Amino acid sequence: MGPQIKIIISLIGILLAFLPVQVSSKVAGPCVNCHTMHNSQDGANVSGAGPNQYLMNVGANICVACHSSDVANETIKDIGGGTRIPIVYNTSGYPTNPLAGGNFYYVSTGSPKVDKDAYGHNVYGISAQDANISTVEGAPGNKSCGGVANVCHRTLAVEPQSNNFDKGGCQGCHVNVFHHTDNNEYRFLSGHEGTNYYVEGVEDANWEQTPTLANHNVYKGYDGPVGDSVTLETTKSISSYCGGCHYYFHRETATGGPSSPWLRHPTDIKLPETGEYAAYNPPTEYNNQTPVAYTNPSSPTRATAIVMCLSCHRPHGSDQPDMLRWDYSTSELGGSGGCLNCHTTK
Ligand code: HEC
Ligand code: HEC
Ligand code: HEC
Ligand code: HEC
Ligand code: HEC
Ligand code: HEC
Repeated sequence: MGPQIKIIISLIGILLAFLPVQVSSKVAGPCVNCHTMHNSQDGANVSGAGPNQYLMNVGANICVACHSSDVANETIKDIGGGTRIPIVYNTSGYPTNPLAGGNFYYVSTGSPKVDKDAYGHNVYGISAQDANISTVEGAPGNKSCGGVANVCHRTLAVEPQSNNFDKGGCQGCHVNVFHHTDNNEYRFLSGHEGTNYYVEGVEDANWEQTPTLANHNVYKGYDGPVGDSVTLETTKSISSYCGGCHYYFHRETATGGPSSPWLRHPTDIKLPETGEYAAYNPPTEYNNQTPVAYTNPSSPTRATAIVMCLSCHRPHGSDQPDMLRWDYSTSELGGSGGCLNCHTTK
């Protein structure tokens, strides 16, 4: 093989590695894998709790029932016929390789963690109301609605409701689900203000069960400033999405932006290419401990790398308090990992 051909082949390889693989989010497999027409077979109930919404053959709280597993470390459940169910709640222990969102294990029964409520979002069907964060306070950093303080987004630990105060359960975040449609929404994540309020991104086919440089989610970020007139509708960013409930943690006015000195840790700002940040190059040295977003997830570059909420947090739950991606108590001056992946000289 001539050297030119070799170069062309390796260029194609590099291109393929970075080409967005627009993965189908449609479910696959025979109807019977998931639905039951009458909830009855040979005279017996198919689902003991049924009949259920959408004729599902699982437990009454259909989202939790289907997306859970009691098998240790089973994070993708293959029930045959091409049906692969991503698992978000392993009931027998925190899995070794949780999917991208983390896992609800510790925020449920939580053993051996002491303050279990701090390890995840308290979601209906998995945990009761957070003992530290009452419904009066609601989501930390949330905004007032109609001039009344702390009435929005009070809790996810109640049954899903159509009002905007207690949009409980999984559907509090995955507001609309489309298991039979491929649409533009990243992981069925949207707001409830209108059809233009949704998150964009590139989805890893295995939900980051084993993330690598070539196979991982690519999140949408926005190069601020963000504020009341620049919301999820404009940005389509994962951080704007979190800001829907944790409003003041994402607003420039509340973070002291657009530049140092900040008042709260900034998100939806570029990861500077200078100073201590120059040493972190996420597009070429992907690090799942502190991932970044990109202004264009289809072509991630160093110049368009963006700090996001998920640079530090897992959205479902983790093995760390505050749903952090790493042990914050060991992030220390002169150390490595965690905060120091970005603040490389601290
Ligand atoms: C892997 C599981 C799975 C399989 C297989 C499956 N479905 Fe569904 N289906 C769901 C889920 C979950 C919902 C409810 C939530 C939603 O609409 O996304 C649903 C909802 C529906 C709905 C109501 C909402 C809509 O999209 O119209 C219909 C009708 C439906 N399924 C028909 C079918 C038929 C027919 C088949 C077989 C050809 C099938 N499903 C196979 C999981 C499945
Ligand atoms: C009968 C089983 C079943 C039920 C019930 C079910 N799901 Fe799913 N869900 C699946 C399967 C299978 C997939 C994987 C689809 C794929 O291959 O991308 C999935 C995928 C997802 C995803 C990831 C989508 C993506 O882009 O990969 C989310 C989020 C989700 N479900 C949320 C929910 C919520 C919320 C509910 C309740 C309203 C629910 N599911 C009910 C089987 C189910
Ligand atoms: C606080 C908001 C929130 C709640 C509540 C929530 N999710 Fe998610 N979920 C997310 C986000 C954000 C992602 C994308 C994670 C990523 O890609 O890093 C996600 C991803 C997923 C995925 C894809 C697998 C993965 O880990 O990326 C599935 C399946 C899913 N969620 C199901 C559920 C189910 C079932 C529930 C209820 C038991 C639920 N979610 C509750 C925000 C939420
Ligand atoms: C639909 C509203 C909603 C959305 C969207 C949402 N949260 Fe929350 N969040 C809450 C509520 C309510 C609480 C307080 C109760 C609890 O812990 O579940 C909370 C608590 C938290 C906590 C503290 C956990 C604890 O118990 O100490 C963290 C960290 C957090 N959220 C991060 C995020 C991130 C990151 C995102 C975006 C992926 C996000 N949230 C999206 C409603 C939301
Ligand atoms: C994904 C990269 C990233 C991670 C991880 C990260 N930071 Fe930052 N941090 C930044 C960027 C970028 C800025 C803003 C720099 C600027 O203003 O130019 C910043 C700003 C700050 C500031 C404010 C500095 C000022 O000038 O006002 C502090 C303090 C800080 N970070 C501490 C932390 C701590 C503690 C952690 C770990 C919990 C952490 N950071 C994790 C990227 C990161
Ligand atoms: C640089 C890392 C980093 C980023 C980025 C980040 N957080 Fe945090 N977050 C933390 C740490 C560390 C804590 C633990 C408490 C503390 O030090 O403030 C925390 C705590 C929280 C809490 C719990 C507050 C409470 O009262 O218990 C919420 C809610 C939260 N973060 C939401 C968000 C949201 C929403 C975003 C994006 C808009 C975000 N975080 C971005 C590191 C981060």
